Formats: sequence, C-alpha cells, structure tokens
Amino acid sequence: MLHEGNKTIDEARQGEAVMREAIRPNGKKLLLESYGCQMNFSDSEIVVSILSDVGFNTTREAEDADVVLMNTCAIRDNAEQRVRNRLNYFRSLKKKRPHLVVGILGCMAERLREQLLEEEKLVDLVVGPDAYRDLPNLIEQVHGGQKAVNVLLSREETYADIAPVRLDDNGVTAFISIMRGCDNMCSFCVVPFTRGRERSRDPESIVLEAQELFNQGYREVTLLGQNVDSYKWNMTSKGEIKDESRPTVNFAQLMEKVAAVSPELRVRFSTSHPKDMTDDVLHAMSRHENICKYIHLPIQSGNNEVLKNMNRGYTREWYLERIAAIRRIMPDCAISTDIIAGFCGETEAQHADTLSIMEEVQYDMAYMFKYSERPRTLAERKFEDDVPEEVKGRRLQEIIDLQMECSRRRTERMVGHDYRVLVEGTSKKSAEMLYGRNSQNVVVVFPKGNLKPGDYAVVHTSECTATTLIGTVVSQ
Ligand code: SAH
Ligand code: SF4
Ligand code: F3S
Repeated sequence: MLHEGNKTIDEARQGEAVMREAIRPNGKKLLLESYGCQMNFSDSEIVVSILSDVGFNTTREAEDADVVLMNTCAIRDNAEQRVRNRLNYFRSLKKKRPHLVVGILGCMAERLREQLLEEEKLVDLVVGPDAYRDLPNLIEQVHGGQKAVNVLLSREETYADIAPVRLDDNGVTAFISIMRGCDNMCSFCVVPFTRGRERSRDPESIVLEAQELFNQGYREVTLLGQNVDSYKWNMTSKGEIKDESRPTVNFAQLMEKVAAVSPELRVRFSTSHPKDMTDDVLHAMSRHENICKYIHLPIQSGNNEVLKNMNRGYTREWYLERIAAIRRIMPDCAISTDIIAGFCGETEAQHADTLSIMEEVQYDMAYMFKYSERPRTLAERKFEDDVPEEVKGRRLQEIIDLQMECSRRRTERMVGHDYRVLVEGTSKKSAEMLYGRNSQNVVVVFPKGNLKPGDYAVVHTSECTATTLIGTVVSQ
C-alpha cells in the first residue's frame, strides 16, 4: 500500500511491488508482482507453489513472461491507481505480444472484476483470494481464447496443505498465515468485502510449517491475520466448542505452540486488535523470550465519537487500559500503531485527541494515512467524506511530524544498551557491516566479524540515526 506523505515508513512494511524468482524446470514463464499488505505477499507464495506444481517457471522480466499476474490491494484509492498504471503498461506489451496473459489476483479482483474485464478490457483473468487453487484451470481457459474469472469467497479455504514457495530471499525470516478474512466491519475498511469471512487455519499445519522453516535454517516467523487475537480453532465465533472430542486453540495458545518449536526461533505476529487483545496473550509473550516484544496495536483515532463512527469496538479509555496492561506485563515491549487522518466528520478538536493520545502512548512507530473512501463500506453508505483534501493533508502532516519526533527519541533511548539481534543480511551501505533487528523490531547495524545471516549476536549500541541503531558485537 502506498502511504501519503511518508513513503519510506510504509514501504518498509509493505514493500515496493516485488518481482521474484523461483526455479522449476520445463514451464511457461510467470511474472508475479505483489502489492499491499504482508497477507498478499504470503498469498503470492501460495500462488507460486500452485503454479510451479503445474510447470511454471518464474521470471523478473515482464518482457520475458507468458503470464503476468498482479496480486493487488484495494485498501486506499492510491493503491488501486498504482495497479491501474501498471496494467496499462502490460496492455501496451500485449499489443506487441498478443499471447501474453495478464491477470489480477487479490483484493482488487473482488472489487473490480466486471470493470477490469468487460468495460476497460485491461485483463484476461481475474482471481479472488480464495480461488487460487483454480488458477491452473483458469489460465488454461484463457489459453483457449476465453476470459476467465473466479472471485468466489469461501468460508473454509485456508490453503493449509499448500507449502508456500518462499519468495523473500533472506532465508532467515518468513510469514505464516494463520487465518484469512475479517469479520470486524470497521466502517472505513474494504477488507471484509475483498477477503470475506474470518476463518482460522488448523494449528497443527501452522506448527508444522514453523518447524519446517526452522529445519531449513529460518530463525523468525511472523504469524499473520487481520485480527490475530480472534484466532480460534474448533470454536464458533461465539466461543462455543465445535467438536468436544478435539482440543480448542486460541491465539495465546497457538503462539506458545509455535514458540515451543525452538528457543532459537523468533515469533512475531500482526495485527492485534485493541478490542480483542487479552492479558493471556501478553502473559504468553512475557513467558517466552523468543516471542518478540513488539505489538502493533492500531488506534485509528484518539476520539471516542470518531472511534464509534469507525465501528472499532473500543473507546480511548479501553485502548489506554490495554496499553497500560502491555507496559505492566512487559515493560520492554515496543508498541506501534495505525492512524487515519480526516475520517468523515472529524473536527479539529477530534483530530487534537488523536495527537494527544499519541503524546500519551509515545508510539515507537506508526503507519499514518489520509482517509480514503472505499465503495461498499459502511462509511461510504452512512457518512459524508467531508474533510477537505487540504485539511486531511495538514492533519496527516501534524501526525507524521509528531511521530517522527517520538520515533527519533525512542531510537536515541536505545543507544548504550545490549540487544540480542538476529542477523538478517549485509547492510545496504557497507559490505563490511551486517544488519538485523532486536526483539523490539528496531534495525541494528554492526561490523560483520565472522557472523552470517541466521546467527544471533548480542550487540552493544553506541550511536544511531533516526530509525537505526549502530553498535558492536559483545558476544555471540
Ligand atoms: N486488520 C488491520 C489493518 C488492515 S488495513 C487492523 O485492523 O488493524 C491497515 C491499515 O490501513 C488500517 O489499520 C488503517 O489504518 C488503514 N486503512 C484501512 N482502510 C483505510 C481507508 N479507507 N482509508 C485510509 N486508511 C485506511
Ligand atoms: Fe479492516 Fe477492521 Fe478488519 Fe482491520 S479489523 S481488516 S481495519 S475491518
Ligand atoms: Fe490491501 Fe487486501 Fe491487504 S486490501 S491491505 S492487500 S488485505
């Protein structure tokens, strides 16, 4: 997702459009580009797995590809515009090479299937997030001269049995999807429409995937879901047991199972929801050194009326109590957030409440956005998108300025301490330096010595930039 006004922070989380390579003989060539959140990147690994099983090779070059797929994001209008620009480029390629198949996957598929296929004739293939098993058939159908669509959403599909082809090439950190969809219906959000109902994945398949990753040399997994705190296995949405003969598993228990794979495997997760995050989760985190001390807890707004209109299910006071619980149970835990500036009807005083909660919590990091109205959402139907663009922009800038200052102070406070760092790779700035992250998710850079990616080292930090710590290894 693109993030107005503060690209670098957003890009660090969601990445630029990525073109990846995996190897498999005897196939047609596939270019897969991913946009949006980590969930989409994780889905792309499933897509490559499904298509390499039927013989596709992947390529990084559009000019080289037989099939181009874009795994798209619909969260804000600018995310969609970006995909449209890219589609226009592929259309120009198709003029030269008519056999080229162009398809869209992911969240825009649900939203714009007719428009993209019929009206604008931009694509040959539209496949929604729950229909990737059907991709080989659908591509065949296009080869046979037809357009192909499958945007059915499922109540069951979790791709639990598909071994993702890891596309992030560091070999140290990986994502594991633990659930799909979202039932929350925050009024601004398109995700429940693009990804359907919430469903949890079989915990055994999750632990097995973590174990396999560890065996392959990975040392960190991030458990992914739109609201990980509502993970539930063998339970209905009301918390009733489905099958008495089998165990139930909640998120705290799942996290402990994954942490038990090895003390040398770090566990992270995203995203927590303030209305559902229990003390159980916090105690589980504090019991295991290898569960990283970092929580992403989106606030969205600091004002109760705005939160109510957003249908977030908590108040400012409830949220602050959750923050107090984190600080009480894990004093060293880093906390980040998401904030939306200029939601429907937001007044100056309500915006000031967002700034004041930021002051109060002192977030380590934040992703900050201008409100972007999305078709079909509750907010679109119920409220007017009435905050003028320039007011949204100014409020967002105030939020960003405050956060930059706070993040800088956070990094400075971390200078002069020892941190256990998981080495991820060579620093972009110097081949003699490595980088990794501490438990709080802050990047630490230090001289290479005899360390390599996947190793742990204790680093003493001696200086910093606004967001990065610099230090020397004190023990391995
Ligand atoms: N499931 C996660 C967030 C998913 S979307 C959660 O509940 O926190 C990531 C972030 O994008 C949201 O937290 C929100 O801050 C932002 N976002 C979502 N819809 C938006 C919209 N219509 N306009 C602006 N920002 C939006
Ligand atoms: Fe969207 Fe809310 Fe679900 Fe997050 S919890 S994905 S913001 S509806
Ligand atoms: Fe975007 Fe879909 Fe993720 S809308 S943020 S790719 S769930």
